[in-house]
Amino acid sequence: MTSKFFRTALPVVAVLVVAGIGGGAWLYLNGSFGESQPGGIGGPFTLTNGAGQTVTDRDLRGRYLLVYFGYTFCPDVCPTTLNDVAAALEILGPKADRVQPLFITVDPARDTPNVVGEYTAAFSPRILGLSGTPEQIAAVAREYRVYFMLNKPAKPGGDYTVDHSSILYLMDTSGRFIAPVRADQPPAQMAAEIARHLT
Ligand code: NI
Repeated sequence: MTSKFFRTALPVVAVLVVAGIGGGAWLYLNGSFGESQPGGIGGPFTLTNGAGQTVTDRDLRGRYLLVYFGYTFCPDVCPTTLNDVAAALEILGPKADRVQPLFITVDPARDTPNVVGEYTAAFSPRILGLSGTPEQIAAVAREYRVYFMLNKPAKPGGDYTVDHSSILYLMDTSGRFIAPVRADQPPAQMAAEIARHLT
């Protein structure tokens, strides 16, 4: 009875915990860092693109940024989000030229710059995939208050998953945080939400 309970209940509890972290982060972002008080989210970073070139936050000034953190081995949330972002860009039409989506890996050990670059290009050539050293990734994740945690592989050297928060961050043309954008909404809504913030 007990072991059966744990077998069935634990995955449910794990899902609730992860959902709770996402929901909590969402409320936190909306409540503490709404449009009236930008700041606190984001900051300088130095990362590497799929061609092996260094990309800093300063290189991206002049365009709105739509920043997302994830990893290429992600079974569901990341590919779904990137599909939706790509579709939202199509819906935005010419306005999308002013928006640069970034996909920053939280799994630099497997997601080399080349791996991330090829991954994002498969969704849309407009999405810029970025990796870096573990220190660079930890620093940028900290600046964006991104939660991520590597789960231990079942056996040493085996596959593993990474829990991570799933929020899109819209940054202005000077690199300042504007607002969070829900990652789990249909592309049309996502596009409308982004368009509202483009001045
Ligand atoms: Ni993911």
